[in-house]
Amino acid sequence: MAKITASVYTSHVPAIGAALDMGKTTEPYWQPVFKGYEFSKQWMQDNTPDVIFLVFNDHATAFSLDMIPTFAIGTAASYQPADEGYGARPVPVVQGHPQLASHIAQSVIQQDFDLTIVNKMDVDHGLTVPLSLMFGQPNAWPCPVIPFAVNVVQYPVPSGRRCFELGKAIRKAVESYDEPLKVQIWGTGGMSHQLQGPRAGLINREFDNAFLDRLIADPAAQAAQPHIDYVREAGSEGIELVMWLIARGAMADMAGGAAPRVAHRFYHVPASNTAVGHLILENT
Ligand code: DHB
Ligand code: FE
Repeated sequence: MAKITASVYTSHVPAIGAALDMGKTTEPYWQPVFKGYEFSKQWMQDNTPDVIFLVFNDHATAFSLDMIPTFAIGTAASYQPADEGYGARPVPVVQGHPQLASHIAQSVIQQDFDLTIVNKMDVDHGLTVPLSLMFGQPNAWPCPVIPFAVNVVQYPVPSGRRCFELGKAIRKAVESYDEPLKVQIWGTGGMSHQLQGPRAGLINREFDNAFLDRLIADPAAQAAQPHIDYVREAGSEGIELVMWLIARGAMADMAGGAAPRVAHRFYHVPASNTAVGHLILENT
């Protein structure tokens, strides 16, 4: 059977992608950000999975106000890096895993979560920046990726609790797939940030670190926090953090297994307009 081996959590700041693509990683502003991912890149080499289930949000690139799926699973064979208006990032095409994705769609929908099936989708910085942070700049991504898009852009957004419960359903789905695949689940976006309005530039270190503490040790309590708290405390874009609860809900301890091992934790302010947060949790 397939197994979820670990979960990875990381911010997706688009300027990080631009810094990488333009060779600025050693500049004084960026050096401390990339330093936080040195461990992670080595860890990824030592723990390359067979498939990544990557929870991310689209930023009005593949979807728009014309169509707003709350939860959308990518079942395509491949995904093109998106052109977000200033040209597509020079990163490899993302290869999918249609068989596992279809199995997860079937299982999760039968567990009563309504997913939108997406057979064609371009992927923006929400998906490609986390890949770049964890893998660097390879000629091809080392494994297939199942993109799972969550609407955290246009209200109403899903609650943390629903995301957490969805993670549990995804775990059941993965672990009922009849092939011995090692699967990682990634939760991306965050941490505190607000890009517009009078509070633009908001960053809340206390909220972010309390979120990380609770995500690790008491995710059910974190899942109970209402969306309005994220908006108030972490800024309008801080709501991206509910996506981390999907990945956390899929870990073994949420289904009676052992607590995960914290392989890596990193927090840094600033990167562009946000705080950068990053965690790697291993199932033991
Ligand atoms: C920024 C952060 C985001 O999460 C995003 O989607 C776009 C921009 C920023 O910090 O500038
Ligand atoms: Fe974002």
